[in-house]
Parts: sequence; C-alpha cells; structure tokens
Amino acid sequence: MTEITESCGCVYRDSLQFVKKFLIANSNDFIFQSLIGLLAFIIVYKLFIGGRKNLPKRAKRSVGVSPASKGTGQPIDCVNPATGKSMGIINCLKPVEVKQCLESAKLAQSEWKSTSFDERRQIMQDFIDMFINNEKAIVEASMRDTGKTRFEATFGEILTSCEKLRYLIKHGEKALKTEKRIVPMLLGTKSARLEYHPLGSIGIIIPWNYPIHSIISAAAAAIFAGNAALVKVSEWSTHSKVLFEGLIREVLANRGHDPNLIQILPGMGETGEALVRSGVDKILFIGSPQTGKRVMKAASDNLTPVILELGGKDPMIVYDDIDIDWALAVVQRGCFINLGQNCISSERVFVHERIYDKFAQEMTKKIKSLKQGPPEEGHFDFGSMTMPAQVDKVDQLVQQTIKEGAKLLAGGMRHPSYPKGNFYMPTILGDVKPGMTIFQEEAFGPVCTLVKFSSEAELIEMANGTVFGLGCSILTSDLKRAERIGSQISTGMLTINDYGASYLVQDLPFGGCKESGFGRFNGPEGLRGFSREVSILTDKFPIRTPVPRLIRYPIDPNSVGIIRQAIFMIYQRGFFNKIRAACSFTSQVIRNPKLLL
Ligand SMILES: *[C@@H]1O[C@H](CO)[C@@H](O)[C@H](O)[C@H]1NC(C)=O
Repeated sequence: MTEITESCGCVYRDSLQFVKKFLIANSNDFIFQSLIGLLAFIIVYKLFIGGRKNLPKRAKRSVGVSPASKGTGQPIDCVNPATGKSMGIINCLKPVEVKQCLESAKLAQSEWKSTSFDERRQIMQDFIDMFINNEKAIVEASMRDTGKTRFEATFGEILTSCEKLRYLIKHGEKALKTEKRIVPMLLGTKSARLEYHPLGSIGIIIPWNYPIHSIISAAAAAIFAGNAALVKVSEWSTHSKVLFEGLIREVLANRGHDPNLIQILPGMGETGEALVRSGVDKILFIGSPQTGKRVMKAASDNLTPVILELGGKDPMIVYDDIDIDWALAVVQRGCFINLGQNCISSERVFVHERIYDKFAQEMTKKIKSLKQGPPEEGHFDFGSMTMPAQVDKVDQLVQQTIKEGAKLLAGGMRHPSYPKGNFYMPTILGDVKPGMTIFQEEAFGPVCTLVKFSSEAELIEMANGTVFGLGCSILTSDLKRAERIGSQISTGMLTINDYGASYLVQDLPFGGCKESGFGRFNGPEGLRGFSREVSILTDKFPIRTPVPRLIRYPIDPNSVGIIRQAIFMIYQRGFFNKIRAACSFTSQVIRNPKLLL
C-alpha cells in the first residue's frame, strides 16, 4: 500500500516539475500567453458565471408542522405486519382537514409555479441526496411498514426513487418544452405552439406496496411540472410517512421553498374521497379497479380529470427455446418479488408443453429451498405480506383453485412458524386452466400459477383473455415471435426477455388498458399528464392578418359562392376539378373584388 502511494507521489511530483519547466520555457511566446489567458477566462466563466444558473438566493424557512399531520379523525393503529406489534397511532384527516391541506398547498404552489427548471432540478438533486444520506432509515421504515425484506426495500424504494429523480433532472425539462405546431397554408402568416403549464394541485392516492417510492415518484413529477402534490397514503402503511414527511419538508424549507408544497395525508376511504372531491386539479389513483371506479365517479362531480393505474393479471410467457435456469430466475422475480404484491406481478405463467414438467419441477424445488421470516430478525428471501385481509383473500383464492382442479406444488398456507405476522408461503399452483377463478381474479400475493400451452394461437387467446391489460412478459430466443405475440395481446406494457425492467427505464410511460386503467405516469407522458396544455396561435410577423370583407358582418350575399369554390379548389380530388374550381373562384372574385379587401 505504502509503495503505491509513494510511486503515485513520485509521478505527481514529476508532472509538476514538467509543467513548471514547460511554462518557464514558453513564457515569452505571444500565442502561448493568449492561450493561457483564454483558458483562465473559460475556467472563471464556468466556475463563476456559467455555473451560477440563475438560482435566486432564498432565505431558509422553518420546517414547521405539516397540516397533514394535524388530523383529528379516526385513529390508525400502525402495526408491523411481520411482528404484529403496534408502532403507534396516527389520526386520519377529516374532510374539512383535507380542505385545509389543499388551501396551504395552493398557497405554496402560487410561489412554486414561477420557479425555474434549474431551481426544480436543485430540489430533485437534494431529494437524491436525502435518499442516499438516509438510506438505512428509509429502508427500515419501509420494512417495518410493509414486512418486506431489506433487499426488496433497497431495490423498490431507494433505487427506483433515485432513478426517477435522476431522470427528471436529466430529461424532465425536455418533456415540458414548448412545441412548435403546424399551421395550414390558409393561415400562413400565423405561428402555432403548444405550451405545458402547471395544473395547480395534484391529488395522489397510493397503495401500500411501495409506501415511500410511490410518494416521491408521483410527487416529484407533480412538482417538477410546477404543481403542488397532496399524497394520500394507505392506512396499511402509514407509519413510514412520519420519517419521510420530515425529510421532504426539510429539503424544501432549506432551499427557501414552502414545505407545504408536498403533503402526505394519512387516512382511510373517507379521507381519499374527500381529497378526490376537494377541488384538486387532477387525480392520480393507484389501486384496485373497484376503488378506481368509485374514484372516477366521485371525481365526475367536479369534472376533475383522473389517471387510473389499477390492477393486472399479467401474463409471463415461457417458450421452450430458452435456457431453463435463466427463465426460472426471471419468473421467480416476476411472481415473488415483494411477495407478488405488485400491480405488474406475473400472475399467470404460461409454459410451453415441451418444458412444462421440467420447469414446474425445478421451480418447485427452488422455491421450497428459500427462507421466509421476519425481515428485521435475520436474512430471509421473503418477508411477510402487508395487509392482513389480503392474506385471507390469497388463501381463499388458492384453496378455491385447488378445488377447481389445480395441483398444489408448493406453499398453499400461512407459514406455521410465524403465526403473529402476515406470512403466506410462496405458493406454486400447477395445471391451472382458463376456466378457473384465479385465471381472472387478481391475487396480489405470492402465488405462481403455471398454465401449459402448445400452439401460438391458443397461447394468445389465453394470455389475452382477461379483463386486465397492464403488462406482459415474453421469454423466448426468437425475438420475431415475441414481437408477433406481443402485438396481439392487449397490454399497456410489453417486456421481452425480462421482468419489470421497464420500470427502471423512466423514459417509458407506465400504465395499462382495459380494466387496468388509463392515463400514464412516468416518462414525458407522465409529466405532461400533470400539465395543462395551452394551444397558442399568434402572428408570425409584425403584420396584422387582414379581415377581408368576405368574412365581415354584414355578410355579403356573394361570400358563400367564393368560399365554396375556394374549398373545392383546395380539397377536391382530381386535377381538372381543381382547375374548374380555380376558374370559377377567379371569375367570382373578379366580379366582386372588394370582398377580398
Ligand atoms: C384481445 O382482447 C381484446 C379485448 O379484451 C380484444 O379486443 C382483442 O381482439 C383481443 N386480441 C386478440 C388477438 O384476440
């Protein structure tokens, strides 16, 4: 070690000597002096002028207390789902308190909307620093709130959030840049453009599966587009909000912004409904189709626009031309990461008949060898599920499927060693068929259903045959086949030879079709979805476009004839038709020349 440092030191000293000699030898050369001068200017410009980026000096503000943590509604007992122990009580916000949150958010937004993209990027960078500096605390808060493992929390809360923020810093402004639009020849003296303006306040309702990432993912995009964000978190993962709210407020206040710009609202259905009806300018709802329909209904009273990200029953297609070991690794992640509590979980695994038996056997062997237990008590591959009622739902669905004729290959019950937590064992069901309940109903849990297929046509019909259309994965060495199959399945997202990777490609919008919802978050579309599009038409030159007598009141009886011929001249098919219309147009204009003035 000392040798390396010494030799480094030597090289460093030698280089310095070289530079010194070089400078002395050339100090009288005019061109050399000019070059040095130019270099110095560039350095100074970069450091002190170019680098300043127009960031106004703002005085720090006090972090204060969020109106969203002053709820006096029903108490939520925050329970660690892996241990069954209470972590404390947080009160729901009553509808009038939601209104107060919105008022303070509007106030914050009225200042924030005029910040530059440089200032917004500065906040995004501060958020990344916040994740890095508090990584352990954030991961552990998420683990306690959801029962997920440290691996899942690091992956799903930290990595995804940092990537989202990095994307916004690097590419967010491009998505919101004013666009030039085409004007028709008739309006040749005009210029058209489309601008993206802030909407105001965005109401966001998120589920419990990624309690921290879901907050920042939506809120960061909302504020990057110049809005305030009110995020209603699930009553099943409320506790991590306390830590996260404090961190976010600190970032905003330290840079002199109003910390009420992002608020995290605790509550149950009543609070969510109050947010939908509060008069926010747009709603992003992530959750079940049943609640999604209620949200849309409630939002229709104020005609508040909605983006709905609902459930899925995503197919994962495994062809026989791939390496089974590799496919097993992808499918295991697709079915069991976060214990399947993902809207894009691979809920139906279609395996080609030629490899079906081997695949089922190896998958079962692998899953049975993995460990499940309380994430805070050791290193486990799987933690607990989050919502107690979801464990019962998953179990009912599994038992029902067995009754309907499927084969239980692994799991199929609560973990016997941890009766206090929500531990449902990773479950594999073989011989699942399209008629079974589980083929249509979202499990949202650790259940892998294996479906055998032979022909491509049969596969497409089965894979496409649900009310959902969120994501779809296809594993095959034949990329042409993958594209061909993918194009015939109604889906919002298609991933070939991977699972879930598209979520890290933040430039791709996320969302589905059919009962999986509509509208998009992430990507340029996500940012524009949080914007009001303003279409602008103005003069291209400083000359006012004349209003000819032709279209002025009182309307001249000859106007209609001239306009008709103009229409025929431009839009009618056929060269001779156009010529005929042009002649007629000209003769009418010659008879009434004043109409064109
Ligand atoms: C897939 O399902 C949708 C409706 O859910 C249907 O409109 C479409 O035709 C189906 N595609 C194929 C190839 O059958």
